Amino acid sequence: MESLKLQDPAEGPDFQTITNGAANGVAQTKEDHRFNPNFTQAVINATGPGASPRLKQVMPSLIKHMHDFCRENEITTEEFMAAVDLLNEAGRMSDDRRNEGQLFFDILGVESLVDEITYKLATDAKDGATASAVLGPFWRKHAPKRNMGETIVFGIDDGDFTLMHGTVLDHTTGIPVEGAELDVWHTAPNGLYEQQDPDQPDYNLRGRFTTGKDGKYQFVCLRPTSYPIPHDGAGGKLLKLLDRHPMRPAHIHFIVTAPGYKPIVTQIFDRRDPHLTDDAVFAVKDSLVVDFAPLEGNPKAQFELSYDFKLASYEGSKRNGVEAATATSTAGDSAP
Ligand code: BEZ
Ligand code: FE
Repeated sequence: MESLKLQDPAEGPDFQTITNGAANGVAQTKEDHRFNPNFTQAVINATGPGASPRLKQVMPSLIKHMHDFCRENEITTEEFMAAVDLLNEAGRMSDDRRNEGQLFFDILGVESLVDEITYKLATDAKDGATASAVLGPFWRKHAPKRNMGETIVFGIDDGDFTLMHGTVLDHTTGIPVEGAELDVWHTAPNGLYEQQDPDQPDYNLRGRFTTGKDGKYQFVCLRPTSYPIPHDGAGGKLLKLLDRHPMRPAHIHFIVTAPGYKPIVTQIFDRRDPHLTDDAVFAVKDSLVVDFAPLEGNPKAQFELSYDFKLASYEGSKRNGVEAATATSTAGDSAP
């Protein structure tokens, strides 16, 4: 992979795109005559009748964009194989503890873009609930259910212990949501999630908390630290090729779910973090930046963080006259 060489565009012809209104909707460039003009449509036409309606809708666009990209940049076989090698390397590294494929797309901003699109669909549906943010590759199913007020921190003495608390609310009515589950996870002060770190107990710094009638939640966690995303594999090679750093600003992850409400996958970010403006995965949103306050006289915590989560109900969306199927979540099959 280190041998990846990109051709200097200055050496090639001018590929300024000029849409010519081709009947098949495939944009042409003035250099298209250099390549088979029927090729892209032939590939699109190969899709059979059994493909799902959504795939029939999106695949022509994907094929067209990929083919246009290759033509416009005159991608060579050598460059194509270098990209394939990198993707294969990401695949080989991936297992239930490491999701290098997702990391790869995170580095290119794809998960954050898809998150923005998904949240926009939800806000267009007048669901101005708590903003979402990328799930990332480190969520684990079946985090331990813990009692309200308990800690998620084990085997760590020297962190900035924080009492985090707030209420889960119906964003339209402001009524507290009973039975909401907060699934929370963050890294240790060494910047590692527990599944990356053999010295941490299983499921350390993770927990699920369920609200009672008052919708309130409370638990002890750590004030998070900024950390580098894994850069010892394919994702790291990609960062190096792009001359980029791997740092993420300090954050805590949440998935908030409740019966009758759209799930929220989100993160909150510490305002003091210098990497708020150059997050390696482009996930920061202003409304998710929070202030940790010093806490006096509590033997369990030196900082306090108050934060309310606002959920959009499926009912509320229906009242707004909009299809309620949009969840403010980037989560795939593996998350709620
Ligand atoms: C994370 O915050 O856990 C994360 C998100 C995207 C890529 C890598 C890590
Ligand atoms: Fe994270």
